[in-house]
Amino acid sequence: MLDVTKIRADFPILGRTVYDRPLIYLDSAATAQKPQCVLDRMDWVYREVNANVHRGVHYLSEQATQAYEDARTTVARFINAREREEIVFTSGATMSINLAAYAWGSGLCKGDNIIVSELEHHSNIVPWQLLAQRQGVEIRILPFKNDGSLMVEKLPELLDEKTRLIAVTQASNTLGIRPDLESLIKIAHANGTLVLVDGCQGAVHGGVDVQALDCDFYAFSGHKLYGPTGIGVLYAKRALLEAMPPFMSGGDMVASVSFAGTTYADVPLKFEAGTSNFTGAIGLAEAIKYLDTFDMAEVERHEQILLRRATEGLGAILNLTIYGTTPDKCAIVSFNVEGVSAYDVGMILDKLGIAIRTGQHCAEPVMQHYGVTGMCRASFAIYNTIEEVDALVAGVERAIKMLG
Ligand code: ALA
Repeated sequence: MLDVTKIRADFPILGRTVYDRPLIYLDSAATAQKPQCVLDRMDWVYREVNANVHRGVHYLSEQATQAYEDARTTVARFINAREREEIVFTSGATMSINLAAYAWGSGLCKGDNIIVSELEHHSNIVPWQLLAQRQGVEIRILPFKNDGSLMVEKLPELLDEKTRLIAVTQASNTLGIRPDLESLIKIAHANGTLVLVDGCQGAVHGGVDVQALDCDFYAFSGHKLYGPTGIGVLYAKRALLEAMPPFMSGGDMVASVSFAGTTYADVPLKFEAGTSNFTGAIGLAEAIKYLDTFDMAEVERHEQILLRRATEGLGAILNLTIYGTTPDKCAIVSFNVEGVSAYDVGMILDKLGIAIRTGQHCAEPVMQHYGVTGMCRASFAIYNTIEEVDALVAGVERAIKMLG
């Protein structure tokens, strides 16, 4: 079993109060809290080694560059990339997916199509819509059932010889559902179709082995992984990165520049224009090292205990609907109470010191699927306790009484 008391002591923010009540933070799917070691590591960068990376022969620049490139190696190991050069640092998963859609997508033409799952959050929908507008590409939707399961069995009907890519989540940010990616990727590859996996929630809930999964692209953010904001990763198989043109341009992504013509740096730097967020990357690597100190199976077990407790407690409340009911969920539970606005529930919980997310969760198509304008979402992390889950359930019951 995880020693959650000890873990909580690693996260300074969990010691604070809101409205004179202990903070109960159940919004880690939006952004997770940061352990002291990540804060210390970033403080160390600014206090001790701050200098621009890849741009100096002086001591600090060398040290910062080393730490930044070590961070790339740490990320590559974390997701089991074949090579560290397959790791591109970005500002977050949103930029990672935009990068893929612009750079890889620039090779698509009118008549091509891509498939986007109905489970996606906006970051994995809108970049593909923009690509479709730019290049006359068709978007096809892979639907999910009311229980939240993605209808992978429908894939053969949607695929044809012009299907270039499937964009799909590893775990829905709203429903917690984890689609059967192994089957999906096998079917896609048999058709010569690439797969981009959005690992925003999946990277922290169970992790990934990109070689075993055999996805072609994998995107995730640091801030949901107990790391800093403003840093993320695009993994892509090396051959894809090499074939892709640059996305953004400027310093550091070039081999040589002249008015007669410019040549580009090798991957991954070709995609890292400008001064990169080296402090964020180093902080992210520290978060990964922090996670390395745990047995991930134990983390998963702990989170599943919290999810089960929440599902049972909330599920026992009259007129409460939980969205996404298949067994293989990560520790996210979204719900609504009939006749009660999700925002009102969220505001009452807030006054009790309980932070959940309310609204559309940046996933309007999921709301449209269920015909609702919003949902309450509680998401659990390594530092949450059974007592916090019970407080959530009691808080929702109280909110219902108050709201009549
Ligand atoms: N996509 C983030 C969430 O799920 C912001 O809350």
